[in-house]
Amino acid sequence: MTVILGLESSCDETAAALVTGDRRILSHKLAGQEAAHAPYGGVVPEIAARAHVEILGPLVEAALEEAGVALSDVDAIAATAGPGLIGGVMVGLVTGKALALASGKPLVAVNHLEGHALSPRLADPDLQFPYLLLLVSGGHCQLLLVEGVGRYRRLATTIDDAAGEAFDKTAKLLGLGYPGGPRVEEAAKQGDPLAVPLPRPLLGSPEPHFSFAGLKSAVLRARDAGVYRAEDIAAGFQKAVVDCLEDRTIRALRSAHGATALVVAGGVAANGAVRAMLETLAANAGLRFVAPPLWLCTDNAAMIGWAGAERFAAGLTDPLDTPARARWPL
Ligand code: KG4
Ligand code: ZN
Repeated sequence: MTVILGLESSCDETAAALVTGDRRILSHKLAGQEAAHAPYGGVVPEIAARAHVEILGPLVEAALEEAGVALSDVDAIAATAGPGLIGGVMVGLVTGKALALASGKPLVAVNHLEGHALSPRLADPDLQFPYLLLLVSGGHCQLLLVEGVGRYRRLATTIDDAAGEAFDKTAKLLGLGYPGGPRVEEAAKQGDPLAVPLPRPLLGSPEPHFSFAGLKSAVLRARDAGVYRAEDIAAGFQKAVVDCLEDRTIRALRSAHGATALVVAGGVAANGAVRAMLETLAANAGLRFVAPPLWLCTDNAAMIGWAGAERFAAGLTDPLDTPARARWPL
């Protein structure tokens, strides 16, 4: 069975994992950088890139050791080649290239979004193409019809902020701290979602896309009004995001012909209210609902290793001069 080493460093998580072609995760190592970025209320690219340089090498060694696999036993090395913060992407990709060169094994340059898109198939062997994927993270908010490895049809994207970005900015505005998503979700549990009137941008719009910038501005105005509890604003904000995601997903389902399942991936998929809404939506549409376990939803290297395994099995490897890309639409 093939064994793939996966590397991830496109944002603020440094990660290495060993994954097999038959869905076994032999090891996965991850180092977050929350403490380093927390004083700034968000990810600082330069700090992130320097941290990746320091941490990635030892993480690769630890992942190989825990899996009991030598580099010479690995079949291919899969590294995120974009999109993301370019300094971080370069660290992971250059590390992948060096390991490929030293071991004589092929490199698989993985699109980070493809990692998220295929990760549900690592967790669920029964998940067949095509499926409708809601990819909601800090950098992306998209609806994709996943038709096969390397075959992704984008049905919708955000015209401004990503959903996770809106969570992070709301947390910052409300003084809840960083990382924002889990803090807002926690605060929302103590709040009344109907207490603060907030907009639902593009709800019911004939065009398929998402928009969250107007919602963020409304959160700012609600805060500055000085009459609402932070918990109520958080609850109202989360409900508005859930309503928007629901409306846009229902719209996409109409053009997702042949979809076997409704699937969610990306960091915001860790949100309980988002998951619950999608589960109901899938049941109403007569579709299976598939959500990877929480740790596989946020950035990690197992999903990059798995995307690498799927690409390797399809005969897709990449030359050592493959560039790192800050932008790289699927
Ligand atoms: O996929 P991910 O780890 O990194 C990107 O590729 O962006 O997603 C991180 C995003 C952040 O914006 C974070 O606030 C959000 O996912 N997130 C959440 C939750 N956990 C993480 N958003 C809402 N509720 C959560 N529980
Ligand atoms: Zn991600």
